[in-house]
Amino acid sequence: MSIETKKDLDSLREAGRIVRLALDTMEAAVRPGVTTNDLNTIGAEVLYSEGAQSAPKVMYGFPAEVCISVNEEIVHGIPSDRVLQNGDLVKLDVVAAKDGYLADAAVTVAVGEIDDEKQALLDCARAAFYKGLQVARAGNRVNHIGKAVEREVRRRGFAVVRELAGHGIGRAIHEEPTVPNYNDFRARQRLTNGLVLTIEPMVISKRSPIMEAADGWTIQTTNGAWAAHYEHTLVITKRQPMLLTA
Ligand code: CO
Repeated sequence: MSIETKKDLDSLREAGRIVRLALDTMEAAVRPGVTTNDLNTIGAEVLYSEGAQSAPKVMYGFPAEVCISVNEEIVHGIPSDRVLQNGDLVKLDVVAAKDGYLADAAVTVAVGEIDDEKQALLDCARAAFYKGLQVARAGNRVNHIGKAVEREVRRRGFAVVRELAGHGIGRAIHEEPTVPNYNDFRARQRLTNGLVLTIEPMVISKRSPIMEAADGWTIQTTNGAWAAHYEHTLVITKRQPMLLTA
């Protein structure tokens, strides 16, 4: 969507605040021995106590409130009785809907102690996000974001998942435009003032095809490469974008 009224902005900020609260509360609970179901329960309690809903659950029938993906799982992992182990990388992805407005963010969290390579992958997703953010200005083209993201990911020796992208958001989970994490020449539309979208680098430790797991939801690498994900919802302006989920 594109923001047209103060109510649009205030409502999106409220959805974004709830996403952040859910993510921060779950992140604080991540430790070896916790299950992904435990984390989902914590996230769900935040959403419901704030008067929000889980958009993937309501709109797509996702079988939990929060997408939780571990290690080689990239996105859309289903919470389960899987017990997190020391050294795991867990990705928490929340899309909250409140009063018809949606915000989306994701973070990658280390479980206990992780090795330097895993830390570098985690850092890469976040750094690539901020490189994309720097060129997310009205007048630039959508593919400038992906170009900046991929350049940073390559510079750090990792790879982006080309099949998965950021997206417009606001009234539905996935709106126009698609925001690829590489310089996709199909994504040449201009960013406009007030446009609401996500930037969300999904980065992997080495190139890999991806596949949907047997559960019908989880997207993972096929060669065991590990993944990190970092995402915010933001509003495009002529200057610095407004982060709604920070
Ligand atoms: Co998203």
